[in-house]
Amino acid sequence: MQYLTAGESHGPELTTIVSDVPAGIPVDITNINTDLRRRQGGYGRGDRQKIERDQAVVTSGVRFGRTTGAPVSITVQNRDWENWHERMAHFGRPPADLHREVTPRPGHADLVGVLRTNQDDCRNILERSSARETAARVAAAGIAKEFLAELGVEVYSYVTSVGDVALPEGYALEGDAAEVQMGIEMSALRCPDADTTERMKAAIDAARDAGESLGGTFCVVATGVVAGLGSHVAGPERLTSQLGAALFSIPAIKGVEFGLGFQAAALPGSRVHDGIVLDGSTFTRTSNNAGGLEGGMTTGMPVVVRAAMKPIPTLMNPLQTVNLDTLEVEEASRERSDVCAVPAAAVVAEGEVAFVLANAYQRAFGSTSLADIKANIASYTHRLDTMGR
Ligand SMILES: Cc1cc2nc3c(=O)[nH]c(=O)nc-3n(C[C@H](O)[C@H](O)[C@H](O)COP(=O)(O)O)c2cc1C
Repeated sequence: MQYLTAGESHGPELTTIVSDVPAGIPVDITNINTDLRRRQGGYGRGDRQKIERDQAVVTSGVRFGRTTGAPVSITVQNRDWENWHERMAHFGRPPADLHREVTPRPGHADLVGVLRTNQDDCRNILERSSARETAARVAAAGIAKEFLAELGVEVYSYVTSVGDVALPEGYALEGDAAEVQMGIEMSALRCPDADTTERMKAAIDAARDAGESLGGTFCVVATGVVAGLGSHVAGPERLTSQLGAALFSIPAIKGVEFGLGFQAAALPGSRVHDGIVLDGSTFTRTSNNAGGLEGGMTTGMPVVVRAAMKPIPTLMNPLQTVNLDTLEVEEASRERSDVCAVPAAAVVAEGEVAFVLANAYQRAFGSTSLADIKANIASYTHRLDTMGR
């Protein structure tokens, strides 16, 4: 399963095509739209989210609610296009009063993009580098998530820090899965702890008042994943490298760690590696410090990945830049912008993780028919479940 996206932030719509989709996957459009709404949410988002009401429109590859095996194409309309169609016209001459963006924002793709492509308007770069594109990714990932749900795999995420406000040291999610996820979705920051949520909101308010922005960290968890996905035989086939690349493909993600992650580097081996035990006739682990990944393959424990997002580059109290026309020092441009988008990035990351896992399942168990894939998984898990006899 692969996806491609197209579309500009202020163009008419975003488009995605998901190819190599097995036939027979039930697709519920409300699930995709729920994820689109989750991506739009979170305390600290900018005014753009008040304009947009993201809705997926499936235009191919699904018939009577099930994938046919043909590429699935999905569009998401940009309501803001109405305010931009002259400035973003695909054809004709630019309007006489067109404002060119010539004061590139540090931390964004603006400067390097115009240098690389030999253009004189940062808008030609920022329209595509804008994280608005991640709405199309979330729509595409809906197909991967529906596939995984059929295989008993669930992917969820939560925010672990915003700026310097973090969940308490050693915080552990408690309660049954549905309760935990309800708590996360009820929080304005998709953070499972109510007190930490309030402190995160206060930090965002202070940043907004100071013309500042904030980043943070989040965790993505995938449960119900079978052991042995990925491969130990070649670097690019290691699931760890695929998950890392997928998470680093999200704008502003600057760090990724699995399980204990960077903490493991400071600990002795005996406190890091997960003991192997038999649960009945199934091999399992005494802990999950590896985050469900060993030797580039899933262990059968939940996959636990954390990522760090840098602060939003657009600042209402802007940093210094250089005007591309005059070469004078000026303030960087201000676009309507989020102050913090960590909860949204976490939703995008769920989709990226889902895509990698969906691919790994297809590679291991087939790609053409959901029913055949399920049958192959059943025989594989039967073998694993009886190995310890
Ligand atoms: C969900 C999400 C929303 C974002 N919203 C904004 C925003 O409103 N303003 C902004 O300047 N950057 C925003 N960003 C961050 C930029 O897209 C990102 O910093 C920029 O593309 C450069 O990142 P890079 O250096 O990792 O490529 C957002 C990122 C994500 C994932």
